[in-house]
Amino acid sequence: MPLRITHAEVADIVQALADHQRYWGDRDLRALHLLPLVHEFGSTCFAARADDGVLGYLIGFVTPDRTGYVHLVATRDDARGTGLGRRLYEAFTEAARAQGAVRLKAITAVGNEGSAAFHRSMGFDVSTVPDYNGPGQHRVVFTRGLPT
Ligand SMILES: CC(C)(COP(=O)(O)OP(=O)(O)OC[C@H]1O[C@@H](n2cnc3c(N)ncnc32)[C@H](O)[C@@H]1OP(=O)(O)O)[C@@H](O)C(=O)NCCC(=O)NCCS
Repeated sequence: MPLRITHAEVADIVQALADHQRYWGDRDLRALHLLPLVHEFGSTCFAARADDGVLGYLIGFVTPDRTGYVHLVATRDDARGTGLGRRLYEAFTEAARAQGAVRLKAITAVGNEGSAAFHRSMGFDVSTVPDYNGPGQHRVVFTRGLPT
């Protein structure tokens, strides 16, 4: 199935959210899909589209300290294991680097072993940071340098 990876539009995320479970399973992450991020950081947000809809998307931005931060990345259940997540990351990395990023960062919930394996395979260091998201809300933090 031919797919195209381009900058994400709000409509892509809205379309994916209509089928939220196919991207996130039983975890309800709809509230984290902050559409203003797509409006303001569209040049570092990507969607993979095919004839039957959005196969994956990535919402990210570059911080003032030159960190390329991936807020959300997901691929649809029927597109997993095809290299799509990696391709979305590659598109983001290129865009982030063009904006001066010197490192990448992402976080996930403790216990999201699939995300940890995915990030490890792409060369990220993995650590658990206590209280990252507030008292008792530990998070797994992924970091990786971007050699110039
Ligand atoms: C995590 C996720 C984005 C990976 O997407 P994907 O399209 O399946 O990933 P890819 O096919 O590009 O895989 C890239 C690499 O990661 C590895 N990988 C991906 N998911 C994995 C898993 N669940 N377990 C082990 N390894 C995994 C692949 O084996 C591959 O390794 P390789 O290139 O060394 O062979 C996808 O599983 C997903 O959407 N999960 C639900 C949402 C989520 O948890 N997002 C991340 C938190 S923000």
